[in-house]
Amino acid sequence: MEVIIVNNAELAAKKAALIYKRLINEKPTAVLGLATGSTPLKLYSELVKMYENSEIDFSRVTTFNLDEYVGLPEGDKNSYRFFMDENLFDKINIDKKKTHLPSGNVDDVNEHCAEYDAKIKHAGGIDLQLLGIGADGHIGFNEPTSSLTSKTRIKTLTKQTIADNARFFGGDPEKVPTHAITMGIGSIMESNMVILLAFGKNKAGAIKAAVEGPVSAMVPASILQMHPNVKVIVDLDAASELELRQYYQWVYERKPDWQKDA
Ligand code: GLP
Repeated sequence: MEVIIVNNAELAAKKAALIYKRLINEKPTAVLGLATGSTPLKLYSELVKMYENSEIDFSRVTTFNLDEYVGLPEGDKNSYRFFMDENLFDKINIDKKKTHLPSGNVDDVNEHCAEYDAKIKHAGGIDLQLLGIGADGHIGFNEPTSSLTSKTRIKTLTKQTIADNARFFGGDPEKVPTHAITMGIGSIMESNMVILLAFGKNKAGAIKAAVEGPVSAMVPASILQMHPNVKVIVDLDAASELELRQYYQWVYERKPDWQKDA
């Protein structure tokens, strides 16, 4: 796990965007695992800028999002499909047919989830999975005590996650769906590379537990300690509880030139 501490979220987004640029230029058919929430917004703006400057061509890229709320009507502005269209897909030259999110409106949820995992497999697996982190350490909507080998499935959100996400629903927790379909932790762990972004003081505890705590289903993001290629890119506030933060900075400053890709 490589921990990269930067001064602010803008710099984190710029660093992460360079990784996407390199990947997609090297592999134009790259398969991206994407995330929602406020954390990836600056990164998506950077990717749009790079597209506008002809630095990235998304025409052959395939994407799979982590999750989707259950039960929101098609086209609802709080659906993650709406979020992705608005913040990324409608602003770049991606083929919408190659963009995938779980559907929160299917009759047979189990069958739909199995198909989602099969589609990822059929696409050749995820090259680069983007993650945010919940204040309780969740990734996707894999809440604490999620099986660390889980596949895509339906999950019930915790009250904390509902409260945290109520800001997108006019501040009313009653309007937040109680269920979501999420890629499983096992599915996330199968991706070739993971970038986890976290900004702000309210993520400091989760980052400390995920990076330096024991691997535990109580902190789903802690499983990333077992993944061979993870970059955790955090601002100073999110890094503030890390015991070894000076060591991570020391390591980063001494990275050999050939490794300085982020
Ligand atoms: C939701 C999403 C997660 C995201 C988390 C944090 O629960 N399912 O993928 O990481 O929120 O959101 P934010 O980035 O807005 O803090």
